[in-house]
Amino acid sequence: MQATKKPQIDFDNLKFDFYQTEWMFLSNFRDGKWDEGELVPFNSIELSPAACILNYGQGIFEGMKALQAKDGRITLFRPMKNAERFEKSAIRLVMPPYDKQRFVKEVKEVTLANNEFVPPYESGGSLYLRPLLIGSGPVLGIAPAKEYTFIVFCSPVGPYFPKGFKTISLLISDKYTRASPGGTGSTKTCSNYSRTMRPALEGKMQGYDQIIYLDAIYKKYITEVGAANFCAIIDGNLVTPRFDGTILEGITLDSVLTLAKHNLGIEIEQRDLSYEELFTDECTELFCTGTAAVITPIGTVSYETKKKIYNNNTPGPITKKLYDLLTGIQKLDLPDDFGWTTIL
Ligand SMILES: Cc1ncc(COP(=O)(O)O)c(C=O)c1O
Repeated sequence: MQATKKPQIDFDNLKFDFYQTEWMFLSNFRDGKWDEGELVPFNSIELSPAACILNYGQGIFEGMKALQAKDGRITLFRPMKNAERFEKSAIRLVMPPYDKQRFVKEVKEVTLANNEFVPPYESGGSLYLRPLLIGSGPVLGIAPAKEYTFIVFCSPVGPYFPKGFKTISLLISDKYTRASPGGTGSTKTCSNYSRTMRPALEGKMQGYDQIIYLDAIYKKYITEVGAANFCAIIDGNLVTPRFDGTILEGITLDSVLTLAKHNLGIEIEQRDLSYEELFTDECTELFCTGTAAVITPIGTVSYETKKKIYNNNTPGPITKKLYDLLTGIQKLDLPDDFGWTTIL
């Protein structure tokens, strides 16, 4: 298979899509230990039809971005946080954890090996990095595999929401939930995502960009938006759903809460957040956060016959300030007071 060479990529018109790059990292776990692994040309991998990932979905992943700064330096954002979450996900699915230092080292290696594919600063794009761990060994009964494969591949991407820093419109789902207590919602397992494809499709068919998921028990409290965390400005405070074990603890959310508190002096409330609160006058701004979504302003929310438009369907002032702060730090345009960026 041929790698997609840089000149073939139109960095200014990238979608959030897969574009093949040249190199990936591959390591295997056999006989109870990880091998050293190596950078290899991007290629397909062979799997037994009995592989645990194919039959029982024993797989986890992470999502991170490498960005180019104005002066050409390449940066990663809080990669150790992804390594920690990867370990937590591995433990949940009884997979051999991958050493966190090695995880970060190999993500750096893949970024540098594919540096031609990091979109230029001006394009607004990034190199999306995908660490993946799958149960590759064969099984028949429902049990963890004995062999595992760790891969880091990457793809240049444009913005996740193609409209850029513009508002999106969301539908609160009363039909589907994403995760339930005791399940895998707080980890990044492959199977958490296939189940959201039908709700997202049905939302799109009704004209919505994404779904807001409610909790699985009361169908009342907000959990997440597709693959992003949810935030509301209510009475001037930043309110975000408390982590109840069904929500992925976003690294972007953690960073946004820190910036809101320290840089903007906004009070944070992490608590149960009923969808009804979104339709009150006190709720003035909504946005969602994630590696892919960055900070995406929410312009309208609908639930059954209710619909509310925020800020005339434009990004709210706090949302905009947080976006400028976060992206400024990530691209090295602003000082990094929290030591979040890793320069390669
Ligand atoms: C379900 C879900 N929630 C939230 C997030 C945001 O997490 P992060 O900010 O670490 O990318 C993601 C993206 O990884 C996600 O898949």
